[in-house]
Amino acid sequence: MKKTEQLYEGKAKKVFATEDKDFVIVSYKDDATALDGLKKGTIGGKGVVNNRMSNFLMQILEKEGVPTHFVEELSERETLVRKVSIVPLEVIIRNVSAGHFAQRYGVEEGIVFDEPTIEFSYKNDDLHDPLLNEYHALALKLATKEEISKIKAMAFKGNEVLKAYFLKLGVRLIDFKLEFGKLSDGKIVLADEISPDTCRFWDVNTNEKLDKDRFRRDMGGVEDAYNEMMRRVFHE
Ligand code: TMP
Repeated sequence: MKKTEQLYEGKAKKVFATEDKDFVIVSYKDDATALDGLKKGTIGGKGVVNNRMSNFLMQILEKEGVPTHFVEELSERETLVRKVSIVPLEVIIRNVSAGHFAQRYGVEEGIVFDEPTIEFSYKNDDLHDPLLNEYHALALKLATKEEISKIKAMAFKGNEVLKAYFLKLGVRLIDFKLEFGKLSDGKIVLADEISPDTCRFWDVNTNEKLDKDRFRRDMGGVEDAYNEMMRRVFHE
């Protein structure tokens, strides 16, 4: 299927229409932002890593019964996906304290939780993606009760599958962010991406960070971290 007009350009991806209204093409860029868009840069090769890794992980999740928007990888940076309307919630699952969790509650990073946590933020740049709970999401009509309960089940199931998968690669899945979309028939599917931009990955032996925190925190070795994750996933 061929690209027609550009529908949208986000911080890390562009989305193009196709000749079929039910499908769009996503094109991954090397651009990176952090700290609510204040920090801008590029991470060489990131678009390729995120596209290939996300597609690979979505196919694993599909096999395990988590429906996704993925259809077909078209090239290193481009993927055909089912067109969805994005549910305006960022769904964050955490297995270990880090990032905003550690900051918000005044605890150190690296505390292993007995059970994974889930949190939602309202996907709204003008409001800086404020944290909200299920009742707020319902009040704001961002999703229905049934949709939220499906989203929670898919997010926790995804966590179990991905946690076990990454552990085999010597990687601890600390936390990650998912986004969900609605197909034209109302079915909820996993959308957006699963990549070092949207997950925290720590090496199982050294706890070395292998994700976008290296960019967010000016740690250096950003490209190397993305390449290392690519190498582990694709056994290159
Ligand atoms: P946080 O600790 O900053 O809330 O991030 C939790 C996880 O969500 C982490 O793996 C990074 C990911 N994330 C995004 O993908 N996009 C975002 O805008 C934010 C804030 C976090």
